[in-house]
Amino acid sequence: MTSGEGDRLRVVVGITGGIAAYKAVALVRLFVLGGHDVSVIATEAALRFVGKPTLEAISRNPVGTDLYEGVSEVRHVALGQRADVLVVAPATANTLAKLAHGLADDLLGTTVLASAAPLVVAPAMHTEMWEHPATVANLRVLRERGVRIAGPGTGALTGSDVGAGRMAEPDEIYAAALAAVRPQDLAGRRLLVTAGGTREPLDPVRFLGNRSSGRQGVAIAEAARDRGASVILVAAHLEIPAPHGVEVHSAGSARELADAVARHARDADAVIMAAAVADYRPERVADAKLKKDALGDEYDVRLVKNPDILRELTSGALAPSRRDGQVVIGFAAETEQDPERLLAIAREKAARKGVDYLVLNRVGWSEGFGTEGNAVTVLDSAGSIVGEAAGDKLSVAHRILDVLV
Ligand code: C5P
Repeated sequence: MTSGEGDRLRVVVGITGGIAAYKAVALVRLFVLGGHDVSVIATEAALRFVGKPTLEAISRNPVGTDLYEGVSEVRHVALGQRADVLVVAPATANTLAKLAHGLADDLLGTTVLASAAPLVVAPAMHTEMWEHPATVANLRVLRERGVRIAGPGTGALTGSDVGAGRMAEPDEIYAAALAAVRPQDLAGRRLLVTAGGTREPLDPVRFLGNRSSGRQGVAIAEAARDRGASVILVAAHLEIPAPHGVEVHSAGSARELADAVARHARDADAVIMAAAVADYRPERVADAKLKKDALGDEYDVRLVKNPDILRELTSGALAPSRRDGQVVIGFAAETEQDPERLLAIAREKAARKGVDYLVLNRVGWSEGFGTEGNAVTVLDSAGSIVGEAAGDKLSVAHRILDVLV
């Protein structure tokens, strides 16, 4: 039934009674703009927050609420049966409880039960309700059943309070829904992905770091997970949470990251080195916090070279234990502005590092690092361009995985 990525999907968006329902309008809009066919099912409570005419205008389809409307079309099962993906956003604590128990006392409940399509829910509620053991248990049941949970985030809630329980942003829910219907072309594969920036300690409280947010590496881990891979994420410092459903190992410094890669690369079908690894580290790490009175007006830090993990993998100490056919993908984040020179740097790096593929992206004060979007060029080991992608980091991640597949 799944139409697959790029095709027009039949999407059911269930909207339940929380204030975040107003943001569900933007979600519906994203699906419509993406070319998908959206049927909205709004609960009675949801319609206290957003009007039916708004939802019908934005979705360009009738909005269902009542189980006893359209009975001749057997609507309570028809919508679910023909859907490629179901999304419930916002999902209140009450809705999560009903979904966990399979209650079908309204059109949304019957639609969910009548559907074999992937279900994505975007919880939204106050922190106390989100953390209540009943909600936690319901979430566990849903997760075990394969339901995908988008968010919630932490931030401003309806009142003046701030905390966990804020509905994920519409674009995040949209991405999660699309991810739910991806082809499972990495099923049975093991991927090792590194992400984030290493931190090289100077003393117990200070470090030398870089501006990598980890977003691109995390997106690759998510995309690979959604395509069926079992993913190990070796995470240096990340500015965003590590994704659910991947095995996460934290690594602070380059040497810790090298150890983690050495431990986990052996069994991997592919190693994707998206982490921004420091090339150098302070030679000496102080045991106690450095004091400026003792250091004086000038303070020299001597740096020594870190292991180049990629080279160790492709031609160094780790090479002999590499799995047959293992694909190694490196990244090059470069500030060079001239496109020709940028490509030349990347070609040289691909050869020097001995990688199968090199993902080149330009970075700068406002490009690449920490941003939501990215633009990359993928080169093979001979330096030929085998892929190009621009857009949000999740779609860039999928294009990189397309090359790998
Ligand atoms: O040499 P450069 O740091 O530009 O190379 C970037 C690529 O090499 C990235 O894939 C990064 O993860 C990897 N790298 C590494 N070990 C280092 C430095 C970078 O594996 N010490």
